[in-house]
Amino acid sequence: MNISFPILDVTEYYLPLDDLSKVFGNGKRTALEIGFGEGDFLIGMAKRKIDWNFVGIEIKGKRFKKAVKRAEREKANNVKLLLMDARIAIEEVFSQDTFSEIYINFPDPWPKDRHKKHRIINPKFLYGLSCIMKPLAALEIASDHEEYISHILKVFENMETFRSEFHSPGYVNSLPDRPMTKYEMEFREDGREIYYLRFINQKNQNL
Ligand SMILES: C[S@@+](CC[C@H](N)C(=O)[O-])C[C@H]1O[C@@H](n2cnc3c(N)ncnc32)[C@H](O)[C@@H]1O
Repeated sequence: MNISFPILDVTEYYLPLDDLSKVFGNGKRTALEIGFGEGDFLIGMAKRKIDWNFVGIEIKGKRFKKAVKRAEREKANNVKLLLMDARIAIEEVFSQDTFSEIYINFPDPWPKDRHKKHRIINPKFLYGLSCIMKPLAALEIASDHEEYISHILKVFENMETFRSEFHSPGYVNSLPDRPMTKYEMEFREDGREIYYLRFINQKNQNL
């Protein structure tokens, strides 16, 4: 196995992956980004936090390939990229209590009523995330879409597993020390407000 190769080829392992140290060759804490696009945020984070490992999942092949090239170019040895539907990956690929942080940056908002069923942030998906997160791990979400953000906050309100780190209204409009994503740069140039949410996984906390 070539440890520095950035593609996570799940056919090389028994699934679910019970131990990411087999993938990275070390036992460092691991963060996950879902829908990493061209990898700006993921690779930026990996270069800043070299004492962490980073796994990214992206469903679109073109974006995935761009990120692979970038990870290779930038010699980001603590990054593994998975080309897959994240909804399947959280059910099939990763074991319980795997990730210490999860990021979802600018998930597709599917604004039309008839398309809202495609929104990735829904109770079933969040339940799956809480399973693969470690207790007290954080889930961070960024979006420019006010209506989607309100919807997401309502979904979380009905889930006991997660506690918001931010007081009412449940979001902040800036978070320091985050690499900007491609979408974030475009939205900021357009003068759009960005909303950041952060939730802590309360599982096994005997609330
Ligand atoms: C609006 S883009 C944001 C990309 C990137 N996070 C950014 O901020 O620049 C949403 C991304 O999520 C990916 N995506 C959508 N559904 C997905 C799924 N089920 N599994 C993995 N990635 C998904 C899309 O292909 C797209 O790259």
